[in-house]
Amino acid sequence: MTETGFHLRGVYAPVTEERTAFDLPVTGALPPELTGWYLRNGPNPRSGSAHWFLGEGMIHGVRLEKGRAAWYRNRWVRTRSFTGETTRVREDGSVDLTASLANTHVIHHAGRTLALVESSLPYEVTRELDTVGPYDFDGALRTPMTAHPKLCPETGELHFFGYSPRPPYLTYHRANARGELELSRPVDVPGPTMMHDFTLTSRHVVFLDLPVVFDPSATAGMPYHWDPGYAARIGVLSRLGPHGPVRWFPVDPCYVFHTLNAHEAGDRIVLYVVRYPHLWWAGHEDAPSTLWRWTVDLATGTVTEDQLDDRPCEFPRIDDRLAGQDVRYGHVTAGDTLVRYDLHAGGSQAHTFAAGRIPGEAVFAPPNWLLTYVHDETRGTSDLVILDATDLRTPVATVHLPGRVPAGFHGSWIAG
Ligand SMILES: [Fe+2]
Repeated sequence: MTETGFHLRGVYAPVTEERTAFDLPVTGALPPELTGWYLRNGPNPRSGSAHWFLGEGMIHGVRLEKGRAAWYRNRWVRTRSFTGETTRVREDGSVDLTASLANTHVIHHAGRTLALVESSLPYEVTRELDTVGPYDFDGALRTPMTAHPKLCPETGELHFFGYSPRPPYLTYHRANARGELELSRPVDVPGPTMMHDFTLTSRHVVFLDLPVVFDPSATAGMPYHWDPGYAARIGVLSRLGPHGPVRWFPVDPCYVFHTLNAHEAGDRIVLYVVRYPHLWWAGHEDAPSTLWRWTVDLATGTVTEDQLDDRPCEFPRIDDRLAGQDVRYGHVTAGDTLVRYDLHAGGSQAHTFAAGRIPGEAVFAPPNWLLTYVHDETRGTSDLVILDATDLRTPVATVHLPGRVPAGFHGSWIAG
């Protein structure tokens, strides 16, 4: 891929400046109870990159406070590789996990705000987006950390995993509500697959071992390729016996970057996922991803797979306070449209933005708000748009930002 790759143009084009602006103009009325930080991460390469996933991470943040938009900041995460203090592979061939692109997600747990990318250790940042440094749970974390950890709303635990091209290929981790890493255990899988996300219910951890397999000779930028010979499987581990065996359930070949949620239903576990029929398969164009429901029957050992809609979508999000429960509403981004699925009654609501206005991931902020950056192609700027999740027709507030926020990945609403 060259400098003209899609990820360097248009809505994806990186910005070159770090800005700070105070008291931003707002159209509409910001809900006063929406007081906190909306932080979103994404790749923003300084000098080109071979793949969308490989740019250095930049976080865009807005502070909302009692009805006003107090500030906007965008900052690169100053990892040790960003500042030139280290490189990923040391002279002895070992990997320095503090060499990080830190470009995928930003979360808050146990008093720390962490920028994440699945190939490295987390980086702690302040809510004003200054970089504190690499974070390894006081020396306890020895593997990379997924960018999609799951916070259990019942226990406050942070569940996550790390995957690696070298054995052990997969390690499951759990930190308690105080942020102490109290469990790390390898999970036996047949090969080094790209494992982007997983999911959690009140009783189980669910892994996705899917046929996108490490291949250092892959030429499209990412060292992974579709392997039709690798079996696609869902792995289920009991949270009550987290050192015990993982039960594996075959599914049809597919790839899933993101889960929406999962919950218990008697002898079944119900998962909602955004599913690609295949990914990075030589000679095949990637097909669009759509929302599916997988019902894992623990008694019979089978999985029922149902496509719920044919609209291509990504960035599934729920009200995270209900993670692991039978949530009614799920939100996705589908091109220029945000969709709110009613998973109980069926059907959906949607908000389509005006021509040339492209939303990113929509993050749910209690009690009923959706927040997303919207890139305006015509004006060459971006807005933070707040919608009422229960009535998507008209945005309740639009915060006008001083610059562009390129299309990126994931973010969090941190109340307070
Ligand atoms: Fe992701």
